[in-house]
Amino acid sequence: MRSLFLFVFLVLRVSSTPLHFDEPSCGYTSCPQADADSLNVHLIPHSHDDLGWLKTVDKYYFEDVQNVIGSVIGALKQNTNRTFIQVETAYFKRWWDKQSDSTKQDVLELLNSGQFEIINGGWSMNDEAAVNYQSTIDQYTLGLRFLEDTLGACARPRVGWQIDTFGHSREQASISAQLGFDSLFFMRLDYRDRQKRLNDKTADLLWKGSQSLDSSYIFTSVFYRDTYSFPSGFCFDIVCQDEPIIDDEESPDYNLERRVNEFAEYVRGQASGFPSNNILVPMGDDVRYQAAFTNYINIDRLIQGFERFPQTVDGKTIKVFYSTPSCYTKAVNEFANNNNYYLDVKTDDFLPYATDGYGYWSGFYTSRPSTKRFERQGNNFLQLSKQLAAVSNQPYENDITPLKEAMGIIQHHDAITGTEKQDVLKDYHRMLYDSLEKANKAIDPLLSTLISGIPDDSFQFETCLLSNISSCSASRSIRFTVAVYNPLSRVVSSPIDLPVSAQSWTILDPNGNQIDYQVEPTIIDFSYVTNVPTSPYTLSFIAEDLPPLGFKIYTFEQTAVKPSTLFYGNENTSFEIDEASGLLKSITMNGVTMEISQDLYYYKSGSYSGAYIFVPLVNEKYRVTANSVKITPISGSVYQGVIQEFASWAKQIIKVYNNDNSHIEVEWIVGPIDVRDETGEEVGKEVVSLFTTPLQTDGNFYTDSNGREMLKRTRNYRPTFDYTNEEPIAGNYHPVTSRIVLKDEEQGLELAILTDRSQGGTSLEDGQVEIMIQRACPHNDFKRSHRNVGDSINDQEYGQGVIIRGKHYLVLGPTTGDGERSLAAVQRDVAQRKLLAPWPFVTNQEVSSRLKNLQFSALKQPLSDNVQILTLEPWNDDVVLLRLEHIFEKGEDETLSQEVTVDLSDLFTTFTITELVETTLGGNILLDEHVRMEWPGADNVATVTDVDDFKVVLTPMQIRTFLAKIVVNRIL
Ligand SMILES: *[C@@H]1O[C@H](CO)[C@@H](O)[C@H](O)[C@H]1NC(C)=O
Ligand SMILES: *[C@@H]1O[C@H](CO)[C@@H](O)[C@H](O)[C@H]1NC(C)=O
Ligand SMILES: *[C@@H]1O[C@H](CO)[C@@H](O)[C@H](O)[C@H]1NC(C)=O
Ligand SMILES: [Zn+2]
Repeated sequence: MRSLFLFVFLVLRVSSTPLHFDEPSCGYTSCPQADADSLNVHLIPHSHDDLGWLKTVDKYYFEDVQNVIGSVIGALKQNTNRTFIQVETAYFKRWWDKQSDSTKQDVLELLNSGQFEIINGGWSMNDEAAVNYQSTIDQYTLGLRFLEDTLGACARPRVGWQIDTFGHSREQASISAQLGFDSLFFMRLDYRDRQKRLNDKTADLLWKGSQSLDSSYIFTSVFYRDTYSFPSGFCFDIVCQDEPIIDDEESPDYNLERRVNEFAEYVRGQASGFPSNNILVPMGDDVRYQAAFTNYINIDRLIQGFERFPQTVDGKTIKVFYSTPSCYTKAVNEFANNNNYYLDVKTDDFLPYATDGYGYWSGFYTSRPSTKRFERQGNNFLQLSKQLAAVSNQPYENDITPLKEAMGIIQHHDAITGTEKQDVLKDYHRMLYDSLEKANKAIDPLLSTLISGIPDDSFQFETCLLSNISSCSASRSIRFTVAVYNPLSRVVSSPIDLPVSAQSWTILDPNGNQIDYQVEPTIIDFSYVTNVPTSPYTLSFIAEDLPPLGFKIYTFEQTAVKPSTLFYGNENTSFEIDEASGLLKSITMNGVTMEISQDLYYYKSGSYSGAYIFVPLVNEKYRVTANSVKITPISGSVYQGVIQEFASWAKQIIKVYNNDNSHIEVEWIVGPIDVRDETGEEVGKEVVSLFTTPLQTDGNFYTDSNGREMLKRTRNYRPTFDYTNEEPIAGNYHPVTSRIVLKDEEQGLELAILTDRSQGGTSLEDGQVEIMIQRACPHNDFKRSHRNVGDSINDQEYGQGVIIRGKHYLVLGPTTGDGERSLAAVQRDVAQRKLLAPWPFVTNQEVSSRLKNLQFSALKQPLSDNVQILTLEPWNDDVVLLRLEHIFEKGEDETLSQEVTVDLSDLFTTFTITELVETTLGGNILLDEHVRMEWPGADNVATVTDVDDFKVVLTPMQIRTFLAKIVVNRIL
């Protein structure tokens, strides 16, 4: 087992760079000694380098970031006391790849001595409200692997450094612990929470990130101030105007003693808020240290000043020194162990974030919905690309890497959040679009060869990414072929929509049987889009029983006569529309019929509402239409439903699929939004979908944390501090990454609304759910967010205000479920099928003679319903990365929440696993070599369970990561 690990990590690293490694002394052993009797002030030189925000990634890199890293390396060599932490691996790799061997050697030496420390280590510093956990894990894997392969064990991060993200999710804490991190640092939490923690000395705490997993505690330290910048007056960067430290006593400007006294004052204020005799002082800011010498020479003098003019706090000497967040963690840990000190334990999350009573950062949960949806498509496609590359046993150019990197960047806290400037937004979309096309080109021959058996074949499959505006050039043809690929580890059936140019078709499934379909005019006329061809109709069919990690082929041919197989009915799942108002009236599912209405409203934006912050002008919402909603029934062999027109810029289709009882679909299409009000003033509109039910919910509702575990929310309440309610609407908005749920405990009923992208949501009245779907704000929220983006969020696309379309999925029923599984299990099933949806690859090439394998599955049998392959990707020659995930929480379902065993010995059709080593979540550290820090009162010792005979056991919510050595079974 060990040998494979060494092969994977060491051999590769050494062979890729001709550098030598001295005996490393990095890690906790290299930390400066904190003094038990002093107040230890850990100075943390750092630079916060956004992967796009006010400038694009490239502009930041070439104008700023390359100067930071280069200049810091030089300054560290001048004085071995100096330290620096490097965070964003996307930037670091870019810089490293261009350096000479001697600079690389310098970096390795600084890493090995602990002076230069890599922390966080992900490709970016990901957001925590809008991201899905799968993408978070992927972006860390990408960064950590580069570090491990290129720089070795001294580059392994032990610290989560999420300093700038806009509130903090519990799942991020759980992932950080599973990556093997010992600590997590940040500065953005509710202003009342910070104050309470400083008063109670609980700003250093233990956070338990999972209610299902043991050993998910992580030491968490919250910054003293609402900034990660230098203490005011002590910014020594060239862009700052602060007074330098002048230690030349001959100089008329000599100020050393006074400056030391001023810094000591600051230190005394902070020391009173923290539990141990250690405090952490960030010495940095956005793209600082471009001329690192200026920063360091002044900090050197400050440190020397404290030696010449000793200062005290509460009778303790103040000891000031260069440090790192991991050394701070070590010092607090020693304090806690020596004094048997129990830190405060937190079990909920740090969302939403508020900077004052009116500054709720709940706008970004919804801002830029097109990016938020595009990101989900990117993940869907990335997962299936990696799977196809892993199972196809064919050589391929690693053209999937740009998609991994683009997805890593999109997770950044100014990308998926929608809080960047407009040209940066365009750059993100360009990057993702190009990398998706590239990945598609890379996997087209893999998929084609799996179908035809002819090496290197190409069907020229198209991804049809613009199906949402009814554009897919392959399916405009009179004859085309579709391979529907299912990235889930179980059999699923799924509706597939394709833009087409005619109404009548013959569709053959892999068995040569004709299948039912339905064609409707596209919901809006997309002919205003002139740069790509659009089609007037949308064809829908059900791809039945798609094999796990596999595909089925469907052939399409236009025909003259439309088959008249209209049938109505799904006796189990249905809805009613109120004829007078045109609104939803009731729904029936899982044996329950419930009155429910749904309507579209908007808030007028307050002048502080912008990309980050949501502040309605008045606490009142307005109906999109004052009249009744115009309805057009639609019905066919695939689904039936109704088109609702609220206004020329707001429409919906509500659908029930004839053969799928699990949910009711509400598709919404909103835009272009006129930001003017009745008087013509540009106020902005923030559009919400409001569901009203008779459910008795006692102020409670539930939202997910990054698509994984659920958290209980209570209106006008926070579990760990006194909440004041200055913003009764914005302050109750929470991130909805995948679902929001109402429960009526008395009746044992629940209603879940699942989303196709992250959004903000709340329940402002019992029985109601409100989800924000689009925001067009002409203002900029700088005055409250203190982040001056300059641009408003009122985006244009194809020469007009942007149109956004998306879906909500409704699941109603008894909490006990549908007779077979709990309602939570039904929700997880729907959420998964929508997140990793079957993907239609369309080609209009003449391929009929090459259609040999009309169905394929990479699995010999589907996995059971409570477990999935979270990741399958090529790692090295003969090695794949394989992550297995138990998808249920403890107690969510009587059967499905049980432990599950996956037998990997004979699971895959195209390869067989011969060796397996287990690693931490990021794939970079061998699990049985890894030890996490222990704290009084927190059982953090992970039990390493052996894998016997390739049988992997998973407990609820557990993810296990393996590197698997494989032999190929079958060469096509
Ligand atoms: C490094 O720190 C030690 C301990 O504070 C000090 O004695 C020494 O002078 C420092 N070295 C430099 C080059 O500043
Ligand atoms: C409705 O539910 C019943 C009982 O579970 C089932 O037998 C039937 O097939 C379902 N009908 C449809 C259209 O799914
Ligand atoms: C369609 O998808 C593209 C790419 O994700 C996105 O830019 C565009 O805004 C979407 N359009 C609509 C109408 O949803
Ligand atoms: Zn940032």
